[in-house]
Amino acid sequence: MFLSNISLYDFRNYRELNLPLERSVTVLTGGNAQGKTNLVEAVALAALARSPRTQQTAELIRFGQPQARVTCLVQRESGMEELDIRISAGGRPEQARTSKRFQVNGRARSATDMVGELRVVLFWPDDLQLIKGPSELRRRFLNTLLTQLEREHARALTDYQHLLEQRNALLKAIREGTQSPASLDYWSDALARVGAAIMVERQRRVLELQPLAAAFHRELTDDREHLELLYRPSGARVGEAPPDAVAEQLRAAMARSREEEIGRGQTVVGPQRDDLEMRLDSRESRLYASQGQQRTAILSLKLAELHYLAEATGEQPVLLLDDVMSELDQSRRERLLAALEPGPQAMITAADLHDLPGSFLEQAAIFQVEAGRVHA
Ligand SMILES: Nc1ncnc2c1ncn2[C@@H]1O[C@H](COP(=O)(O)OP(=O)(O)OP(=O)(O)O)[C@@H](O)[C@H]1O
Ligand SMILES: [Mg+2]
Repeated sequence: MFLSNISLYDFRNYRELNLPLERSVTVLTGGNAQGKTNLVEAVALAALARSPRTQQTAELIRFGQPQARVTCLVQRESGMEELDIRISAGGRPEQARTSKRFQVNGRARSATDMVGELRVVLFWPDDLQLIKGPSELRRRFLNTLLTQLEREHARALTDYQHLLEQRNALLKAIREGTQSPASLDYWSDALARVGAAIMVERQRRVLELQPLAAAFHRELTDDREHLELLYRPSGARVGEAPPDAVAEQLRAAMARSREEEIGRGQTVVGPQRDDLEMRLDSRESRLYASQGQQRTAILSLKLAELHYLAEATGEQPVLLLDDVMSELDQSRRERLLAALEPGPQAMITAADLHDLPGSFLEQAAIFQVEAGRVHA
């Protein structure tokens, strides 16, 4: 699989762009605030059906314009695919109510069914918070990987989110005394069933990702450190338990937390509270790892993600490296670039080309990004 063309129309600071891409490495360079990250964001949007940067879709539309459009051409053995996303600003600007419409080869798709057509691994400065930052980041890491592997998983996450919102609304209504607790069991049951499916899948994938991450980490640290990934489910022990047994545990955990849940108007157990623990030599890295150790562990995790996606799907994902070169030291940089040969297609942004080795640049297509325009 490779991304052969990107075109943008009123997306972020791009008025109009049509950019054919190389099968190998594309380097995007240019000063700050010229549109490098915006371009990477557009590709991630086409792959994930949402921006990795913002939840506010309206931000993606060029200032003062009614609509934005992103079109990506993906070449695969079975033929070419056109992925198209149109974002419309609905109503008055202050309402900020936008709609996204997705098409594959001219046929409408839901967001969920769009994911997986183009697979990406994004590595950017936000990822450097993966260890110390909030658990939300680690859940997003899992969601991004898992939804690109299996559409069922994307559907389960969407369903879960809807059920969770409804159950939370009910918990608040019970607290306010406007609803009776009688219907709570129904929602707990529905939530537990979908939640369990998500958890079982997370457990399975983390177990498969673990040896890859450990192997990369061993290599990056010359065998000095052992990295372990541990899935930490909330409200259930997953292990090898079948989904029904996990659902039963979730139902029981909700029943135990009933008073707390009603008091807070919130569901306090389930996949929305899961975490992914990273251990270095059996110690929790969130608590003990140095800056350098964190960076190496995160790099190992990202390399594992890249290789796992390729292995599990039989297709190389597109690697998007936004601004990370400047964040990594020489040896980590070299290790990361070594993963690109013979490698996946990659788009790399760098404000400063000196952050990339000359030998590497010789083999890359280099583009300048300047005020929403791209030129050779
Ligand atoms: N909706 C929008 N309409 C117009 N311009 C926008 C919109 N959203 C963001 N911008 C502008 O896009 C510009 C470029 O943003 P981008 O993040 O791509 O820069 P960059 O080239 O990655 O810079 P840096 O090297 O600092 O990371 C910013 O100046 C920002 O104000
Ligand atoms: Mg940037």
